[in-house]
Amino acid sequence: MKFFVDTADIDAIRDLAQLGIVDGVTTNPSLIMKSGRDIKEVTKEICDLVDGPVSSETVALDAEGMIAEGKELARIADNIAIKVPLTWEGLKACKALTSEGFMVNVTLCFSANQALLAAKAGATFISPFIGRLDDINLDGMDLIAEIRQIYDNYSYDTEILAASIRTANHMKQAALIGADVATAPPNVIHAMAAHPLTDKGLESFLKDWEKTGQKIL
Ligand code: E4P
Repeated sequence: MKFFVDTADIDAIRDLAQLGIVDGVTTNPSLIMKSGRDIKEVTKEICDLVDGPVSSETVALDAEGMIAEGKELARIADNIAIKVPLTWEGLKACKALTSEGFMVNVTLCFSANQALLAAKAGATFISPFIGRLDDINLDGMDLIAEIRQIYDNYSYDTEILAASIRTANHMKQAALIGADVATAPPNVIHAMAAHPLTDKGLESFLKDWEKTGQKIL
């Protein structure tokens, strides 16, 4: 499973990139707002840090506007994936942009039927939002499983980009189901490394090591 980082925080991306685990980045208007940065400037910096796709989101509501904004965003760098919402107009923009060779991430997906339409419209990525479904007492992971089955039934090339990930457990479940990509905030990726038994084991090893009086260096 590929790891994308869901943030526009340059320091956090740089930190994770050093570990070689960043296959791409996703941003959205809320994350740009949170960064306090100019969208083009911060997106360019992200694209310079990461080789993989960097999703940058349009804000127009009509297809024509999304296409124009998407092309403007794609001028930032070669690895931009243009993010459009899963509306009828978004699907039209997706079709037009992918036909011209741009990568398109269709976002705000909350149903298998929406994901089916995005694949038919040639989306590079479909972004089903797990956490926001969980928030309204639905099971976001069920949606990932449904889309996986549908895409496999017909061998669609569209990659399932599990989004709105809130916990390390979401990452594990998305990987078990077979999402192609998971995009998570930096704190969730860090949480994947944590285990209380690792901390406990390390503490007891270090206590015993101290008793030996030895040094490695
Ligand atoms: C994905 O591309 C979105 O930016 C993101 O995953 C949304 O997550 P949220 O529901 O936690 O805001």
